[in-house]
Amino acid sequence: MINFESPASGPVFMNEDKKKYCIGLGVTGGIAAYKAIEVLRLLQRAGCDVKVAMTSHAAEFIRPLTFRALSGHYVLVDDYDPGNPDPIAHINFSQSIDLFLVVPATANTLAKFANGIADDFVSSTYLASTAPVMVAPAMNSLMWDHPATRRNIERLKYDGVMFVEPVSGELACKTVGTGKLEDVENITAQVLEALGGAGANERVSDLTAESFLITVGGTREAIDPVRFITNHSSGKMGFAIAAAAFERGAKVTVVAASTSADAPSGPRIVRVESARDMYRAVISEIDGATVYVGAAAVSDYRPKNEAATKIKKKDMDEMTLELEKTDDILAEVANSRKNGQIIAGFAAETTNLIEYAREKLLKKDLDIVVANDITQEGAGFNTDTNIVTILTKGVDEPESLPLMSKRELADQIIDRIVKIRNAG
Ligand code: PMT
Repeated sequence: MINFESPASGPVFMNEDKKKYCIGLGVTGGIAAYKAIEVLRLLQRAGCDVKVAMTSHAAEFIRPLTFRALSGHYVLVDDYDPGNPDPIAHINFSQSIDLFLVVPATANTLAKFANGIADDFVSSTYLASTAPVMVAPAMNSLMWDHPATRRNIERLKYDGVMFVEPVSGELACKTVGTGKLEDVENITAQVLEALGGAGANERVSDLTAESFLITVGGTREAIDPVRFITNHSSGKMGFAIAAAAFERGAKVTVVAASTSADAPSGPRIVRVESARDMYRAVISEIDGATVYVGAAAVSDYRPKNEAATKIKKKDMDEMTLELEKTDDILAEVANSRKNGQIIAGFAAETTNLIEYAREKLLKKDLDIVVANDITQEGAGFNTDTNIVTILTKGVDEPESLPLMSKRELADQIIDRIVKIRNAG
């Protein structure tokens, strides 16, 4: 529970340098803009310094002077305003804050953030900021539900933007639906929680002693020189883990089969095609790894005989492919595990999720199994989000996590790996 008492009697939120946290409050043009005033006051009461940036549309709803009087800082609306005391304000503003909070965030602002458009002070600040970003959207429910907005939200979650989801209620247009700004107390509580928790002001470097080996993507098993058997893996999940581990200080090698997602910069990428290639690459890299994560969708079977030339359809009306089992890479890594190696696998299931995942955990002697029920919307293949249950060796109760971006989930998985390491 967060206490919103005045700084004199309540908690004061300080960063590592023992200075007050500074929140950049972006206000964009919606009817809920007036509620940003209350958020500002609650954050100040919790001991934070608040600087405000507004879009010109927001300034139609609330005058910048109101925020200036309350915050004690010049309110930035337009970089080019001759009254602006700072000639490169969006850079200096974005670098001076510990968290950028946007209340309310309109559909238009989310679209700009998602696409890197920086044509006003708030969107330029977003693009120039290295601080964590939290948005509290508010809009008509039709706009909230529009596929374009949903796409932008998925993208932003993948990019690590934290959302204070709007709630259902009566909207400005007198209709009832989802799109109402969350209560200001809840918005403030989430900001303070983010500042207090890992990842808000600083990303911990807790993996400097670890070397991650991660498999990613879908293998391709050749039928002939033009055809292959594969699956829907995009590589998003595995690359997200690679990016998170790298950011937290680990040495990271990724063995990547076919992917449609962009590989993160930083980790070393070893490209492979088939399950056999992946097996060989993993076996040659595994000695140097302290943590192995099998996020790839590896084909369980491959054609027994790959045709040397293209199979011509005129030759036959029906065709039978004879398949043989591939090596189970994860099982092999676990079998020949070296002292201290932590081994995590995934389970992509359509039925009996927990039962099958537990079977993998025990049979293959893994430390963690991340189980995704790929029939759920927002989970599994080629989505920017995932919904998983994590099973950990020695822990009876599976841990079900809510829908979150694959990038957020990556940190959650790594947090559990760190816990296992710390437990010895
Ligand atoms: O790449 P995305 O589009 O982001 O999708 C993510 C994902 C759904 C691919 C990922 O989250 C996931 O679940 N990966 C594992 C998919 C899978 O093949 O599950 P499985 O239940 O068939 O395999 C279990 C485990 O054994 C996996 O860790 C797999 O990498 C490993 N395995 C499987 C077969 C094999 N021959 N060798 C293996 O190492």
